[in-house]
Amino acid sequence: MKVTVIGAGNVGATVAQILANKELANDIYMVDIDEGIAKGKALDMYESMPILQSDARIHGTNDYAETAGSHIVIMTAGLARKPGMSRDDLLVKNAAIVSSCVSQAVKYSPDAYFIVVSNPLDVMTYVTLQVTGLPKHKVIGMAGILDTARYRSFISMATGYSMRDIQALLLGGHGDTMVPLPRYTTVAGIPVTELLSKEKIDEIVNRAINGGIEIVNFLKTGSAYYAPGTAAVEMAEAIIKDQKRILPCTVLLDGEYGIGDVCVGVPIKIGKDGIEEIIQLKLTSDEQAMFTKSAEHVKATIKQAMELISNQ
Ligand code: NAI
Ligand code: 2OP
Repeated sequence: MKVTVIGAGNVGATVAQILANKELANDIYMVDIDEGIAKGKALDMYESMPILQSDARIHGTNDYAETAGSHIVIMTAGLARKPGMSRDDLLVKNAAIVSSCVSQAVKYSPDAYFIVVSNPLDVMTYVTLQVTGLPKHKVIGMAGILDTARYRSFISMATGYSMRDIQALLLGGHGDTMVPLPRYTTVAGIPVTELLSKEKIDEIVNRAINGGIEIVNFLKTGSAYYAPGTAAVEMAEAIIKDQKRILPCTVLLDGEYGIGDVCVGVPIKIGKDGIEEIIQLKLTSDEQAMFTKSAEHVKATIKQAMELISNQ
């Protein structure tokens, strides 16, 4: 098993380290435009493997030829937000970075599954599909797992119950229009609506929606990376181990939920064939309206991104 992580920044390095700690791949290649960062972090991680009792080999490079034959490519390169910026503010620079990186990666790993992390996430997932020409079951964006993990951790904080027992689902774009679904949220099977007041649930939903900026405002120089890195690895692990997990991920919709030609977050079955099923929930009219609005916002941003790329 060979995994390439593009970008050796905060998210990329976290992803590589967790992959190596869990021995999910024999070889992990971190690629960065800054060769020294990629090589230095890779060597530092490699040197921790005897302590962690892992035989994963971690390599740093700026040469995509070394990544040839990767089974999975995790795309994390790109600018991160600073205070006052929205994810969409990253569009111009990241559209150029993502299209250049994924086109080089796919040349050497034409059979790989691509997990996209760079922001704005839903748009960059669409860009990756277009630029690589890969079939839609092979390109999957990471956002829903992070957003639900935030939501689940806030529910644990509020109820005092174990993180392990909290299950939740979420739909829509990774941004202000994401659609958490309290009616699909349970603690060990008990609906959260029986455990917390509507006001408390609304407060938690709102905190989850703003979870990214809460961290940016603390860090000031960048955005979250421990939870995002862990979330991307959960997707890679589901593919590598053919786990058939049901996880909220960003995928290309083609008529599901009455929506087409846009990448947004929905629950999927994820296993060795990447996206093995898009799960269609029975939404209430309010939930469907919020989801459609979220998809329309993403669609408008995708249009801008594709224009930028075609003018390059
Ligand atoms: P970072 O600034 O720590 O790292 C980015 C890395 O990309 C840097 O090492 C930089 O040298 C590299 N890079 C830039 N241009 C490149 C190129 N053309 N080729 C190869 N490498 C290049 O940023 P961080 O925190 O790792 O975030 C990375 C991206 O992930 C950002 O766009 C951020 O918004 C996004 N993100 C998305 C999340 C999600 O839920 N989908 C969660 C967290 C971050
Ligand atoms: C987050 O939600 C930056 O999108 C990233 O933390």
